[in-house]
Amino acid sequence: MSKPIYVLNGPNLNLLGSREPEIYGRTTLADIGDMAAAEAKAHGFEVVFRQSNHEGELVEWIQEARLKAAGVIINGGAYTHTSVAIHDALRAVDVPVVEVHLSNIFTREEFRHRSLISPVAKGLIVGFGANSYVLAVDALASLIEEAAE
Ligand code: DQA
Repeated sequence: MSKPIYVLNGPNLNLLGSREPEIYGRTTLADIGDMAAAEAKAHGFEVVFRQSNHEGELVEWIQEARLKAAGVIINGGAYTHTSVAIHDALRAVDVPVVEVHLSNIFTREEFRHRSLISPVAKGLIVGFGANSYVLAVDALASLIEEAAE
């Protein structure tokens, strides 16, 4: 049995569905978890899907993923733009990391244009709403499969 894919979500993403639906859509985080699990299953992977509003908890999960995950998908929420701790934790991860955002952070306020996750990610998927996660699972699964060949 291969290791699972970790999908980690940062602050306020627990409010998806009701929070600024004009930006983030009406799909809840639970629904996104189901969508990610279904896509991962098609590639033969299980998903560990988590959300926290706490930076330190996200750091601990990234450290856990370092040992237990086949790859990591992360939507850092607002910590994307501020967290050196999350950047450093991801730097220490040897498996591929894919950064994901529902919205296109580059077409929004200037403070969202800088990501501290991007320099330590293999790639980014932004702007496709809930479907960003499905695309991210697909991209990550391909990376893991290629690395295993
Ligand atoms: C977000 C974009 C971030 O700028 C914002 O702080 C979020 C959500 C996204 O998925 O579009 O919380 O990560």
